[in-house]
Amino acid sequence: MLHLTLRQLIAFESVAKHLSYSRAAEMLHLSQPAVSMQIRQLENVLGLPLFEQLGKKIYLTEAGNEFHHHSHNILEQLNEAETMLAEIKGMRGNLNISVASTASYFTPHLLAEFCQRHTLATVNLSVTNRESLLQRLNNNETDLAIMGRPPDELDADATPFMENHLAIIAPVNHPLANERNIPLSRLAQETFLVREQGSGTRIAMERFFAEKNIRLTTGTEMSTNEAIKQAVQAGMGLGILSLHTISLELETARLMVLDVQNFPIQRHWYVVHRKGKRLTTVASAFKEFLLQKHAT
Ligand code: PGA
Repeated sequence: MLHLTLRQLIAFESVAKHLSYSRAAEMLHLSQPAVSMQIRQLENVLGLPLFEQLGKKIYLTEAGNEFHHHSHNILEQLNEAETMLAEIKGMRGNLNISVASTASYFTPHLLAEFCQRHTLATVNLSVTNRESLLQRLNNNETDLAIMGRPPDELDADATPFMENHLAIIAPVNHPLANERNIPLSRLAQETFLVREQGSGTRIAMERFFAEKNIRLTTGTEMSTNEAIKQAVQAGMGLGILSLHTISLELETARLMVLDVQNFPIQRHWYVVHRKGKRLTTVASAFKEFLLQKHAT
């Protein structure tokens, strides 16, 4: 094992980079004799000259050149370790996040990936509907929220990060199952199960049909996506849900998506916080993670 010191490596790296003792000394805030001494000591340890002087210029010797690759790697690795440790120090903390119930179908997967990268971060996830998300933001009870439409009710910073498509779902044996390009007006003959008041899915659905001037027959109201999926399977009516909520049912052919004109309704997921809120390191790292992960 070579008995060299980190100071010697740093001095060598700088002289090799600038090919000048005086410039290296300046960059390291040392005197020139101090830098020369580090290099001399290093050459003694290695038993080979690292630089040669030709005229006024200095050059790396062959051994110097070879050694430079290694010393550069060692210093790079130390740098990486330093960055990683700084990140761990900064990432020790709790992420307080509230998401719309529909977003709970994908948020845990994103959190799992984030927590694998930042092992000291802990998470407090609260799942609720749009209305109480707004309340939580308003009362400063959450760092971040994930919701399906930026809130007009609050002065908020809302950034879209992922698409969210709402589709009409039906049991696989529904009479419209094999129809293509079903006109919207045909839906007036069907009964729809709807999410509760305050749900973003419900608001989006109502706006959509109001704009198209179509009156839907809405029967039963249910407060979870799961209940709607079960009721649709059981033949109580059709449902309008985010595609995020039904991947399993589509895979196992328990539900199907009807091919209706103007569908799916195209929406986005937003990561939201109050304007001016000072995000914790963990919260701003998670926001950054969402935006990078889904950057197109
Ligand atoms: P939600 O979803 O219907 O579960 O409240 C929020 C949204 O889609 O805006």
